[in-house]
Amino acid sequence: MSRFAPMVDEAIEAIEGAASLADLEELRPTLLGKKSALAGASRSLGAMDPDERKAVGRELNVAREAVEACLARRLDSLRVDDRRQQLEAERMDLTEVRPDLRRGHLHLVTQARDRLEDVFVGMGYTVAEGPEVETAWYNFEALNIPEWHPARGTFDTIFVNLGEPEEVMLRSHTSPVQIRTMEVTEPPIYVVAPGRTFRTDAADATHLPAFSQIEGLVIDRGITMGDLAGTIDEFVKAFFGGEIESRLRPSYFPFTEPSAEFDISLPDGGWLELGGCGMVNPNVLQNCGIDPDVWQGFAFGFGIDRLAVMRYELDDIRELVNNDVRFLRQF
Ligand code: DAH
Repeated sequence: MSRFAPMVDEAIEAIEGAASLADLEELRPTLLGKKSALAGASRSLGAMDPDERKAVGRELNVAREAVEACLARRLDSLRVDDRRQQLEAERMDLTEVRPDLRRGHLHLVTQARDRLEDVFVGMGYTVAEGPEVETAWYNFEALNIPEWHPARGTFDTIFVNLGEPEEVMLRSHTSPVQIRTMEVTEPPIYVVAPGRTFRTDAADATHLPAFSQIEGLVIDRGITMGDLAGTIDEFVKAFFGGEIESRLRPSYFPFTEPSAEFDISLPDGGWLELGGCGMVNPNVLQNCGIDPDVWQGFAFGFGIDRLAVMRYELDDIRELVNNDVRFLRQF
């Protein structure tokens, strides 16, 4: 056994005991510096005769290498620890939950629209969409509202292009989606089309210039006004709950014949007008290439924003577009 073994053991114990990189750096001169035991032993070699010096010198080199190797290993492992601690301290928890942040939700008009879609999909309808910018053909003409027709004025249309070759406008109702659907779909057709609509109305407590409607269209064989009344009743009960009743009142729309307005019952015994409906006018069917002697149908349309106003008992329809989070958060 090397005569330096106890010296090496002591050095190794000190190295293993160093708790940090700083401790280890402090230790280095004590173990390997000029005043170290190893350096002292090295100096004593000078007094030895050549043979002994050779043998002890070899042992001393082995001892020094053992201490240096141990120091290097400890240095590595302390560096790894150090880095790990640093990473841990700087770690960001991206799953953190901030109790003061609220989760958002869909706007109440979107909620009402989704609910309406659900009710009609449950009755076997599909959902259709159409463009918000329309030509006079889709917004008026194909719906049996020719240029000279007085009803054209009642739609308070916002025009994008007044000129040739044709007028272009923001659609003033969702009824054009009826035409687009019939153009590309073979009957039978059971479809609803929710979407945004636009009129020149100034915003007040009951009007918005940009609002939402939902259109319904059914084309099948042997469809009657009774089917229309039954469908509206079903939908009203599914949307508002069992106690609410609906009724039809005679009215006029160019695209339906006969036409009606439909109301729903209010808790105070009164009635609230919800929308228009009727049997699809044969002219409209013909405009879409559907034979009115074979196919009949009904259509209806009403405002979704008004429905939301009713359902949530709002005082002013403008609340829907003020984007006041304190208001919207309640629903
Ligand atoms: N488009 C009409 C409006 O905006 C509402 C309407 C009435 C739609 C009768 C219809 C209908 O489909 O049959 O005033």
